[in-house]
Amino acid sequence: MRILVVEDEAPIRQLLKRTIEPLGHEVELAEDGEVGLSKFKSFEPDIVLTDILMPKKNGLELLSDIRRLNNDAIVIMVTAFGSAEYTLRALRLHANDYIIKPFKPKQLKEYLEKYEDFINNRTIEQDLLGNFLRREYVLEFGNHLKLVNRLADRLMLETNNAIPRESRLGVHLGLVEMITNAIEHGNLEIDFQQKSDALEGGVNDWPDLIASRLSQKELSERKVEIRFKMNQEYCEWIVTDQGPGFDWKNRPDPDDPEMLLAANGRGITLTSMQFEEMEYNEKGNQVRFKKYLKNE
Ligand SMILES: Nc1ncnc2c1ncn2[C@@H]1O[C@H](COP(=O)(O)OP(=O)(O)OP(=O)(O)O)[C@@H](O)[C@H]1O
Ligand SMILES: [Mg+2]
Repeated sequence: MRILVVEDEAPIRQLLKRTIEPLGHEVELAEDGEVGLSKFKSFEPDIVLTDILMPKKNGLELLSDIRRLNNDAIVIMVTAFGSAEYTLRALRLHANDYIIKPFKPKQLKEYLEKYEDFINNRTIEQDLLGNFLRREYVLEFGNHLKLVNRLADRLMLETNNAIPRESRLGVHLGLVEMITNAIEHGNLEIDFQQKSDALEGGVNDWPDLIASRLSQKELSERKVEIRFKMNQEYCEWIVTDQGPGFDWKNRPDPDDPEMLLAANGRGITLTSMQFEEMEYNEKGNQVRFKKYLKNE
């Protein structure tokens, strides 16, 4: 992938370059938002990693400039511990994710792998499917975590470009998060703490945990149901799993700065910012989310 790093502190900039380049990516560096914007235009990166507090043009200004030019690039904010307010502002300006300094190279590597798979499975040029006035269907999916990005790409195709351009990337990533949760936490019953422990443990802890759940027949046979509905006003998805549900009412408030600091636990927050409506059923094994289509 082509990755643009925008960071004013030279040592961090170099550290990012040294971490990312050996993973096989092309890296360009910029020392402030102004240089960042001009490199964004010439380098056309797949991913932008940008600091928030910088001289000349700060990360939030850079983000809005990028979003005016391009809605396909993934923008990840590199934020300092304790700058939750800026991080939240960035998410509202359609940043796609954030990583908190200081972070471990392993964490950055995991992020890049996640987005690389997403990008590799994304179809940017979409065929026109025709002008249906209303569509509704249900599909059932097994617990194939490796196919979630392809499924989400397919679901985006179904929306037939009706979602405003500036919202598509966020909606697409939201679909990935919600289907992933249905498999990981719902059907395979991996809870928050088990996921954190595995992600923070050895390289194989997470794949091993998934494999061990999939070896249990009663869990592996469960399905995810995705109900899609589209009319001239909105697209709606209802994702249902066959797991035990969870106490979503006691989920940390997305506006609570503390929440932003955890290793995992960002999927629901990132998703909720992309949809006008999002709600769980009482049990917590079904989530419904809706995106309004702008009709001029
Ligand atoms: N379908 C579900 N069934 C059961 N529990 C769920 C479900 N969806 C979410 N949860 C619970 O809510 C928590 C928060 O989910 P969220 O997607 O925000 O974060 P995460 O999946 O833990 O990490 P990540 O940031 O990688 O998405 C999960 O850790 C899990 O405990
Ligand atoms: Mg999640």
